[in-house]
Amino acid sequence: MVYESQHPLVKHKLAILRDVATEPIQFRALVGELTQFLCYEACADLPLNTIQVETPMGQAAGHELQPKVGFVPILRAGLGMVEPIWAMIPNAVIWHMGMYRNEETLEPVYYYDKFDEHEVNIDIAILLDPMLATGGSAIAGCDRLKAWGVKQIKYIGLIAAPEGIAALQEKHPDVPIYVGSIDSHLNDIGYIVPGLGDAGDRQFGTL
Ligand code: PRP
Ligand code: URA
Repeated sequence: MVYESQHPLVKHKLAILRDVATEPIQFRALVGELTQFLCYEACADLPLNTIQVETPMGQAAGHELQPKVGFVPILRAGLGMVEPIWAMIPNAVIWHMGMYRNEETLEPVYYYDKFDEHEVNIDIAILLDPMLATGGSAIAGCDRLKAWGVKQIKYIGLIAAPEGIAALQEKHPDVPIYVGSIDSHLNDIGYIVPGLGDAGDRQFGTL
């Protein structure tokens, strides 16, 4: 399943995010806001428990989220996606995954996690990475999560190339993909066109 947001606010904010003149401070804020919109849409089918709450006026029927959620940001660029949606689901846990693309081969190089120190205590992992280019990083992230025993995964990204979507769907057809935009194509150095350039560098000012 591939979901490309059609929301006017997403489209509006994506245009500012793409703009080469947008500075890191505004870029980071937009990454956060866009991730909130996409997380809202990606969570629309999460199951609920029915609960009772006491209001100042008496008893009310209410709901609580049934699954325990884990947010899994792929470093570095996924980092800016975490805080704004952690505020939306405060009992979520965060599993950091360090990966970068080898610039020549475009293969992901895995360099960090702290998995040995915790058990799988989540029902659903939401993988966070702004850019789905070749799909190599997202595929490696899903491979790792499944090897750890995670049963349900969703992917949230801001901009995707058709090539990355096809690759992720082929390797992990059970992982729904939620993105702000599906762009035209990858160029010959593996960048998304029109894209926004390097999402990590633009967030952290390392251009
Ligand atoms: C970027 C991006 C993804 C990856 C996408 O990270 O944040 O993780 O590239 O490309 P792929 O779909 O071809 O794997 P990058 O390697 O630039 O690392 P960074 O986040 O540390 O800048
Ligand atoms: N990573 C990025 O940050 N941008 C791209 O266009 C491709 C990979």
